Amino acid sequence: MIPSDIISKKRDGILLSKDEIKWFISSYLEDKVSDAQMASLLMAIYFKGLNKRELYAFTETMINSGSTINFKDSDFFVADKHSTGGIGDKTSLILVPILASLNIKVPMIAGRGLAFTGGTIDKLESIPGFNTNQSLKSFKKIILKNNSSIISQSNEICPADKKIYRLRDLTGTIPSLPVICSSIMSKKISEGINGLVLDIKIGNGAFLKTIDEGRNLAKLMKDVGNSFKVKTDIIFSSMDQPLGDYAGLFCEIQEAIKTLSNDGPSDLKELTLILGAKILIQAGKAKNLDEGIKLQEQVLRSGSALKRFNKLVKLQKGTIDNYTEINRPKYQKFIFTDKSGIINKFNTERIGWALVELGCGYKYTDSILDYTAGIQFINKIGDNVINGEKLFRVFNSNKKRLEEACLLLKSSCYIDNKVPSFKLILDEH
Ligand code: URA
Repeated sequence: MIPSDIISKKRDGILLSKDEIKWFISSYLEDKVSDAQMASLLMAIYFKGLNKRELYAFTETMINSGSTINFKDSDFFVADKHSTGGIGDKTSLILVPILASLNIKVPMIAGRGLAFTGGTIDKLESIPGFNTNQSLKSFKKIILKNNSSIISQSNEICPADKKIYRLRDLTGTIPSLPVICSSIMSKKISEGINGLVLDIKIGNGAFLKTIDEGRNLAKLMKDVGNSFKVKTDIIFSSMDQPLGDYAGLFCEIQEAIKTLSNDGPSDLKELTLILGAKILIQAGKAKNLDEGIKLQEQVLRSGSALKRFNKLVKLQKGTIDNYTEINRPKYQKFIFTDKSGIINKFNTERIGWALVELGCGYKYTDSILDYTAGIQFINKIGDNVINGEKLFRVFNSNKKRLEEACLLLKSSCYIDNKVPSFKLILDEH
């Protein structure tokens, strides 16, 4: 087969065969197909899409590029959650230990930052010593000890997603619905789960700007989930403003610990618990969302979810004992409001790019992250503010990048006299 012929076919809207898709991805993994050729195919897919048969072939090839896990020897319900990418979204860090303490096994394969969105793996790696690169054997061992583990794609599990994910990030080819679907579903199916809840982010800080796009993606994901016998539920949540009070790297770990100590921001808690409730219903542990939410509130109150989190960190070789002292930023700056009124809207994508500028994401192939970096959102949509009031606290350990990020942030908030209508949970299935 000839790579340029396959790329041209897709560019011209001609369907690819299963063998062509399989050959192209396998050859990319063997370094026979180049980054440029894979990026060209991804761009052609972005414009021409994949039909159902091509989507299955793409997803199956991604799954079979590495080993898969199975928990057939366990009586536990095995489940996971994944989001399409957001800003300030640390729900996985809270939900995984909550579910683990309710005796659900959670073998989570998570991702790094993609474009302007944050990555669970980057946040976890801001914990000194934390190892996200576990072998399949030790991943399973940790799960058996603590009901949960969070790792990244590796050369052993989902290597195709690992390599393609990074390339998509650097080549503007992320927001293709079938590729997002394959990327997420291949990781989740490889985990050997029974149930899955997907958080499809919608809005000006998400890859999907409208709920209609979200519904199209949900249909693809549900179809793939069903055909691999994974119960798949969907929550559509708004990314018209960052989630929680902080976005960044270590500051999100700190906010997750606060939330696990039953002291987190209400939007973050609301989204986390509705996602968890969906899994608890799938597992037969709750009859409805209210019951599922109550069960999770109990493990937050009792401290058992926090204990699970601390154990997860320890088992993955992280050290977090004095977490208020770790990763202290060298510099900080405030952004102030320039008029009085009600906060109506954020340009959330711009906030995401400001985070990348601060050092929380990948600008280049060799970008080195700044674990101390982040933004505190002092006011959010619906808050009344007066001219000159503090809006954002911006921090990192590189003065030049801090200045650049602040320039981006200056025009990322809209203040008006109208009372805005903001809804976090837009729909659920
Ligand atoms: N998360 C993923 O794992 N893949 C995507 O494409 C988007 C979000």
